[in-house]
Amino acid sequence: MPAKPKLDSYYTLGRTGLRVSPLALGTMTFGTEWGWGSDKETARQMVNSYVEAGGNFFDTADGYTNGTSEAWLGEFITEKNLRDKAVIATKFTYNAEPGNPNAGGNGRKNMLRAVEGSLRRLGTDYIDLYYLHTWDRLTPVEEVMRTFDDLVRSGKVRHVGLSDVPGWYASRAQAIAEFRGYEPVSTLQLEYSLAERNIEREHTTLATEYGMGITVWSPLASGLLSGKYRPSEDGGTGAGRLDTVKGSPIPAFQKFTQRNWRIVAELEAVAKQMNRGMAQVALNWVANRPGVASVILGATKLSQLEDNLAALSFDIPPELAARLDAASAPEPFFPYTFFQDGQQQRIAGGVTIASRPQGYAPAVRIPGVETGTVISGPAATGKR
Ligand SMILES: NC(=O)c1ccc[n+]([C@@H]2O[C@H](COP(=O)([O-])OP(=O)(O)OC[C@H]3O[C@@H](n4cnc5c(N)ncnc54)[C@H](OP(=O)(O)O)[C@@H]3O)[C@@H](O)[C@H]2O)c1
Repeated sequence: MPAKPKLDSYYTLGRTGLRVSPLALGTMTFGTEWGWGSDKETARQMVNSYVEAGGNFFDTADGYTNGTSEAWLGEFITEKNLRDKAVIATKFTYNAEPGNPNAGGNGRKNMLRAVEGSLRRLGTDYIDLYYLHTWDRLTPVEEVMRTFDDLVRSGKVRHVGLSDVPGWYASRAQAIAEFRGYEPVSTLQLEYSLAERNIEREHTTLATEYGMGITVWSPLASGLLSGKYRPSEDGGTGAGRLDTVKGSPIPAFQKFTQRNWRIVAELEAVAKQMNRGMAQVALNWVANRPGVASVILGATKLSQLEDNLAALSFDIPPELAARLDAASAPEPFFPYTFFQDGQQQRIAGGVTIASRPQGYAPAVRIPGVETGTVISGPAATGKR
């Protein structure tokens, strides 16, 4: 697979005409409300630095830092007069009013409530990409897709995406959109990194087959893959978010495991051999995985962001990428174990079949699969 283009080249997201940078700017760290974010001036500098590097893709959510993330992002975009250039993605699902079950979840009532709040905080009259944030296990997918389509037709939303949903749910959503003529799902936003590769079992194939670009969250496993944490008697230690949130019930924060320490050790060895920082190598690895359209960067300091923005400026030699793949490969389990080569031989009656179904075997790279079209040159940079 060819290496990802630089930040000021763009990908079309899924099967849409929306051009997005291969590195997005995550803004979950904008604001100190959650105990591990950045102050306003640092957040402003990060937006400026990202835009100067050519980035156009911003990721936020209605609930991030209790609304501060959306409010600051909207303010910075307005003060730099960037609204036409910026692609703003935001999300709904999480509850905004304790005690009121319809102020959260994925039902129509909450979607229509939440979108108004996001528009107000962002100071805009449209959202470029509106995500369902997390599956609520209850709302029929038909209701979500119909409401998404209504929002697109009303002009409040341009494109729609799903974040943190099971593969079967996203597949059904896309089928409903296709057969009812609704706005299709253009992206799946999912956790993906050397420390969390479970999406390769279902979501990668689903996304590439059905026109959804994968937008990656927590590409550094909340900072673990930067190398600043070390194993300790109570799991791990180091200065940063993962230390602050120790004991949190949120699954994405449970990163101090023996398996992850082995991955970190191999990443450290590979990065050393390449004379690169561990964060850059980890970001480059995930950006070049099959199906990945854009990697959402997270940072609390300008120096971190600047380090991360250089992550696409080199290639990982194939033999070193193979070492990273091997150290982090997900454990195979049923039914995927049942689709592997031995079984296929039995199915094929001993005849060798040249083309393999894409993506079934977790450890197998999917050759030649790209989601979206790479655009570079004048059309992409807006210079024509
Ligand atoms: N859809 C979802 O459910 C979901 C969930 C989570 C995130 N997201 C999105 O994804 C974005 C990125 O997620 P994330 O913040 O978890 O990404 P991440 O890249 O896994 O972690 C970012 C954190 O790692 C540390 N870090 C980053 N670069 C570093 C460097 N070069 N050297 C040392 N430490 C470094 C910083 O934390 P410290 O300074 O505290 O160490 C930074 O805040 C978010 O902003 C949000 O937009 C979406």
